[in-house]
Amino acid sequence: MNIKELDPSPRLLMGPGPVDVYPRVLRAMSTPMLGQFDPEFTGHMNEVMALYRGIFSTANHWTILVDGTARAGIECCMASIIEPGQKVLVPVMGRFGHLLKEIATRIGAEIVTIETEWGQVFDPDEIERAIRQHRPDVVATVQGDTSTTMCQPLDRLGRICREHDVILYVDATASIAGNRLLTDEWMLDAVSAGLQKCLSGPPGISPITFNERVARIVEGRKHIEGGIRPEGFVAANGPMIRSNYFDLGMLMDYWSPKRLNHHTEATTMLWAARECARIVLEEGLDNGIARHVRTSKALRAGLEAMGLKLFGDATHRMTNVTGVWIPAEIADADAVRSEMLLDFGIEIGTSFGPLHGKIWRIGTMGHVCRKANVMRCLASLGMVLARNGAKVDPRAGIDAAYGVYADG
Ligand SMILES: Cc1ncc(COP(=O)(O)O)c(C=O)c1O
Repeated sequence: MNIKELDPSPRLLMGPGPVDVYPRVLRAMSTPMLGQFDPEFTGHMNEVMALYRGIFSTANHWTILVDGTARAGIECCMASIIEPGQKVLVPVMGRFGHLLKEIATRIGAEIVTIETEWGQVFDPDEIERAIRQHRPDVVATVQGDTSTTMCQPLDRLGRICREHDVILYVDATASIAGNRLLTDEWMLDAVSAGLQKCLSGPPGISPITFNERVARIVEGRKHIEGGIRPEGFVAANGPMIRSNYFDLGMLMDYWSPKRLNHHTEATTMLWAARECARIVLEEGLDNGIARHVRTSKALRAGLEAMGLKLFGDATHRMTNVTGVWIPAEIADADAVRSEMLLDFGIEIGTSFGPLHGKIWRIGTMGHVCRKANVMRCLASLGMVLARNGAKVDPRAGIDAAYGVYADG
């Protein structure tokens, strides 16, 4: 067989994720295995819980990893919280709201949605009106919807949900560590994330956190699979969680001193998650967010000065992904992305659904979120666009980005 050793072309990943991984994380991933019940390894599991309490800004004891990509964390939270037949309100502002709706549908929930145009967010009062009208058991929402580059304000939503005795679940995959996320202060009951955006790790493991309100729901549905069930264990009265892999009750036992076996922890991904969190917390969450804000500001100033138009509600943009309208003169948007990739080694993102063929999405996240990458991206995009007949001024783009950095 003539299948060669891996040797991917050097790329700069400036799409909506995955993004370039911190070199320290790659090094951590070559750390040797430990057995899953080795006290050294369970010690590292406890460290990971502590590190992610910092990342989620929470004191929640239950702050653990779910093995699988970010949607594993989403599905785990939703399948463990929502009982079949319960009512779930999903505010849909983009593709990932549709994903929450789809997962809730598979769980057998009764779904109510409110929708807004892609590129907008919801006023929390609008969500409250829907709560009053529909009386859901759970509200499931996305913080940063990568498909539209918009960031839903959450600071009032948790309190609103608490007042109406509704559980609030948040998908913070794309926003965490680049946008403010205050789990406890904002009263978010359960939050899940992924590594492959501002945490700058590989996709494949999902940090989650949940409070005692959620833990009580899960305890009420507690079931332990045969073969590992302790003698005398009596299952709870609530409906059994329909997924084995995503049964939070069993995961809680695995992540507690009981260390009751469930899956085999994805050791290498745990090493990665641990190092991502260490890097982000070393920089400091606020410093990291400020870096994302400034880098996006430079990128956005450059794109506008070049002659392009930014997408979406300017007051609610994520700090880490920028949507930009494809200029009318560009007949083949994919050819532009392909020239960026093949001639300049830079990946920028396409888009989905109603935005497909209309906007590109440029990510400035984690390890990628730095001045040199903004400059490379602006210079390359300006040149590629000009070669493809767009009316742009690449030099003006670069000067505007320099201007943002000169402003301090
Ligand atoms: C907001 C959001 N939620 C969920 C996901 C799904 O993540 P994954 O592909 O890691 O399962 C993504 C991925 O881009 C995302 O941006």
